[in-house]
Amino acid sequence: MRIVLLGAPGAGKGTVAKMLTDYDGSVQISTGDILRNAVKAGSELGKKAQGFMERGELVPDDLIMDIMEARLQEPDCAKGFLLDGFPRTIPQAEALKKLLVKINLKLDRVINLDVPKDVILDRLTTRRTCSNPDCQEIYNIKSKPPKPDGTCVKCGAPAVQRADETVEAITKRLETYNEKTAPLIDFYKKEGLTTTISSLSSEEIVDQIKKAVK
Ligand code: AP5
Ligand code: MG
Repeated sequence: MRIVLLGAPGAGKGTVAKMLTDYDGSVQISTGDILRNAVKAGSELGKKAQGFMERGELVPDDLIMDIMEARLQEPDCAKGFLLDGFPRTIPQAEALKKLLVKINLKLDRVINLDVPKDVILDRLTTRRTCSNPDCQEIYNIKSKPPKPDGTCVKCGAPAVQRADETVEAITKRLETYNEKTAPLIDFYKKEGLTTTISSLSSEEIVDQIKKAVK
């Protein structure tokens, strides 16, 4: 399947994308994960992105489009892709539209994960993420805890809080979402692509997505 996952920080985009990759071989492409790996590796991209990310602001569109133009043309995308955290602005959505025409592909659906703000705040302050760049499994100390010693169940690396999980950065990320990303719900509604899902159960969301792309 070829879908975009829209939703506020903490809505569960990464969690749902990881569950869907087992379904039909579609690959999860998380711009957030790509950028965090670049920061960790200390690459040029990482150096440019780090400040924006830690403040809870968006990384400039041109940097993101450079990454995504190349990424969407890699061979593993042939079976489908689950875009997690991209596009995030109207200019990114317009650029994606052009790119998809160029590579002769169409989106199946745009899934809008609609989660109440109080649930989101609770999830973001209790999340832990595997620090191994090749794993990045997502945990939650309430709903899906790592091992009792705080390490990843899958690979054993420490599961940690992200650098953008301070109260200031979370507040800024939510503001940025409302201002820059929420307008994409209507952008894709006009294209007949938006499906809004309000469930709080990841299993139920996955089922509804499978039905929506059939
Ligand atoms: P990004 O990494 O994309 O962060 P985000 O959008 O803020 O979203 P999160 O990853 O915080 O939340 P999520 O929806 O994936 O939720 P999760 O599944 O983890 O971006 C980070 C930064 O990178 C941005 O601020 C920006 O600077 C930059 N960036 C990235 N992409 C960009 C772009 N395209 N353009 C410009 N800049 C960009 O779940 C959250 C928690 O809830 C977890 O603990 C999970 O276990 C738990 N949970 C999930 N679902 C459930 C459930 N059903 N029940 C109970 N708990 C649940
Ligand atoms: Mg995520």
